[in-house]
Amino acid sequence: MLANKRILLIIGGGIAAFKALDLIRRLREQGASVTPVLTRAAEQFVTPLSASALAANKVYRDLFDLTDEAEMGHIELSRSADLIVVAPATADLMAKMANGHADDLASTLLLATDTPVLIAPAMNVRMWQHPATQRNLATLIDDAITVVGPDDGTMACGEFGPGRLSDVPDLVAAIVARLSDGPLKGKHILVTSGPTHEPIDPVRYIANRSSGAQGTAVAAALAALGAQVTFVTGPADIAPPQGVQVVPVETAKQMLDAVNSALPADAAVFAAAVADWRVASQSASKIKKKNGALPSLQFEENPDILATVAQGKTRPQLVVGFAAETDDVIAHATAKRERKGCDWIVANDVSPATGIMGGADNTVTLITDDGAEDWPKMSKPEVARKLAARIAEALK
Ligand code: CTP
Repeated sequence: MLANKRILLIIGGGIAAFKALDLIRRLREQGASVTPVLTRAAEQFVTPLSASALAANKVYRDLFDLTDEAEMGHIELSRSADLIVVAPATADLMAKMANGHADDLASTLLLATDTPVLIAPAMNVRMWQHPATQRNLATLIDDAITVVGPDDGTMACGEFGPGRLSDVPDLVAAIVARLSDGPLKGKHILVTSGPTHEPIDPVRYIANRSSGAQGTAVAAALAALGAQVTFVTGPADIAPPQGVQVVPVETAKQMLDAVNSALPADAAVFAAAVADWRVASQSASKIKKKNGALPSLQFEENPDILATVAQGKTRPQLVVGFAAETDDVIAHATAKRERKGCDWIVANDVSPATGIMGGADNTVTLITDDGAEDWPKMSKPEVARKLAARIAEALK
């Protein structure tokens, strides 16, 4: 997804700098060429040799390295890339960028460039929350710099909160989206996918036969058209696609929380096969057999994630649901579209004879304001590409 793209990767001096090495590998796997730049502080955490070896490229370190200046001046270096990525972006680097400092190679490159810049901040939670950093962040966003993360979590220093460098696959996804020229460039699209697992006790759960194949294909197709995709997935059989931000969840409740955190979005596609019910009182310990007496399970209804979002305050412009039916497919799906308040419904017949659930192909009917449109039998990726193209058309 990054074939022939040139990325100048500025590695800041923070404990997360080691992750930049993995980032180099993942970017190269996607076809990008990576030129690393290390700040003085970064060299305390990673060596120029490792960065150079992984990038299979020269590493730049010093503004006054005359050989480099003779080979390629800092102006040219900063402009020869398609994207400048700063990861990790320390509080100090952000401050320098926001205030236009140019006292080392990294800050000079960032000031001299007219190339798009994406930063992935990582720092101690207090430093992140400090009004100075938040002011700098606001300035950088105003300056059209793309900011990815930071994530919440436990810090190397033992504190908890926002400040962790975003995971490398999420950084790759954001870089792919930033560099895309597709029709969905600049659009944020949320996709739910896979089954949910509803625990009975610590070892047992209720699930369904969804493999996650259709939702995964939809997310991949949207990303391929340049969308920034947040992919909220239950425990699926297949790996999530490249180039999307993956949020793994297990239960319907967790899926709803993840979806709410991912909003706002320009569009949302609900391909998950959410369990309709959860066990009302999960047992904290394994339920044991009792002389042939059968356990009884009480259920309660799960939140309807699609309906909640379609009828919520931060409703995306386009809300697309799926309808898995075994009989009266069109009638049920049409009623479902009304009831849930979504714009489109992709209806499919999941009766066992069709082999759709868990299978490679899908035969769907797209139901919109204009009525029902039968699509011929296609592979799930083909359905996904056709749907993604329609979404691009609708968001134009
Ligand atoms: N859906 C959801 N949250 C739920 C149930 C369903 O977001 N708790 C979404 C699915 O992702 C899908 C659509 O609603 O996009 C329809 O799902 P489906 O399972 O076909 O419908 P149900 O609402 O479960 O209705 P029923 O079981 O009556 O067919």
